[in-house]
Amino acid sequence: MKTHPRFERRSWAEPWKVKIVEPIKMTSRADRERAIAEAGYNTFLLRSEDVYIDLLTDSGTNAMSDRQWAGMMLGDEAYAGSRNFYNLERAVREYYGYRHVVPTHQGRGAEHILSQMLIRQGDYVPGNMYFTTTRHHQELAGGTFVDIVIPEAHEPANEHPFKGNIDLGALERLIAQVGARKIPYICLAATVNMAGGQPISMANTRAVRELALHHGIPIFLDGTRAVENAYFIQQREEGYGGKSIAAILKEFCSYTDGCTMSGKKDALVNIGGWLALNDDKLFEEARNLVVVYEGLHTYGGLAGRDMEAMAIGIAESVQQDHIRARIGQVEYLGRKLIDWGIPIVRPIGGHAVYLDAKAFYPHLTQDQFPAQALAAELYIDSGVRAMERGIVSAGRDKATGAQRYPKLELVRLTIPRRVYTQAHMDVTAESVAEVYDGREAARGLTMVYEPRYLRFFQARFERA
Ligand code: F0G
Repeated sequence: MKTHPRFERRSWAEPWKVKIVEPIKMTSRADRERAIAEAGYNTFLLRSEDVYIDLLTDSGTNAMSDRQWAGMMLGDEAYAGSRNFYNLERAVREYYGYRHVVPTHQGRGAEHILSQMLIRQGDYVPGNMYFTTTRHHQELAGGTFVDIVIPEAHEPANEHPFKGNIDLGALERLIAQVGARKIPYICLAATVNMAGGQPISMANTRAVRELALHHGIPIFLDGTRAVENAYFIQQREEGYGGKSIAAILKEFCSYTDGCTMSGKKDALVNIGGWLALNDDKLFEEARNLVVVYEGLHTYGGLAGRDMEAMAIGIAESVQQDHIRARIGQVEYLGRKLIDWGIPIVRPIGGHAVYLDAKAFYPHLTQDQFPAQALAAELYIDSGVRAMERGIVSAGRDKATGAQRYPKLELVRLTIPRRVYTQAHMDVTAESVAEVYDGREAARGLTMVYEPRYLRFFQARFERA
């Protein structure tokens, strides 16, 4: 069929209309100065009612569809064997292709169970860049995380289309060095959050699979944003342009042995997650462990209605018009900033636009927490709430307690799914530009309270 040329020039629009609205509040600059100082210059410690546009995270901040809300009314709140569990199980099997499903209250619940089952003291867990909670659970179980993402992932301006790829040479070197028996599994994330929401290609995943099979090492996917990863494969990888998101997702997952999942992202819900596994014995163990930490294996810390909403959300998430508009909105914001010469991580990622705080504030050293300071400045300027993804998030080395110095020092503007409009993106971009214009006057911060675990959530700062 021939497409009319004029049609090709049309821009996309959201495949939904708004049925219910939640008012948001504009505050004064003086209000925000006070609020951020009270929050110890940590955007995690702000009250959400003091926030105008909330781009802290895309986690659990999605707008559910009318169908998902209708599904909430069909919650079967039985303690055991809820109907909604079977719907969830069916959806995971159909779209992700794994055999067994254990629901968990969110992603880290699944990470905890997987880590406890597979990792022994002294093991190594290679992965394409760390994620905060994932690495933490691996370390709690006695493992050491080893970053084997390609070097391009650490360079904000590098335009590599698949910056989430695994460096096969680095993986081979690790196997040669410590031996395959010390590697319980490879942790493969799609997309890579800390690199800027960057995808991993199908070809790379297939190559990792071949190498892993050769050494008898399983692969577990962090499937949190695997649907977004599938969209990038469709758009950028040879041979996938004509395939559906559902088909790409299924093929992608087929190169892995299971996944941990935060349903609060791709699956369009406010709470929920799961651990999926193909191996029968491992599934038996996971089913047993989940009752200790989360709840019975047919609810895993979730209400029946939550599982129903997630089952429906999974099916919605792979729709072409949904994912195109979702990533299209992130692209819209990123494009605007690029056009204005503002330094962001390139290419634009799937769930967020990442400001390069090192390039913003070259006069600040990393010990002055440039990204933390930039997130605070942005909030003060407009009430837009972002998140630090730099030295504070990286934390300390497990063995030595020394401060880690990540190459990337970023501020993440994370876009919730189906929540904000293009006009909100415009206001956000204008505020970033304003803060960029005032960059020379920016001062650093000092950390005055450092929590022991995952410090970025609750650390407090003062202006230097
Ligand atoms: N893996 C990735 C890649 C994530 O981004 C997250 C959460 C998790 C696992 C853990 O899932 O929160 O459901 O326990 N990321 C959120 C964020 C918190 O803001 O990026 P969870």
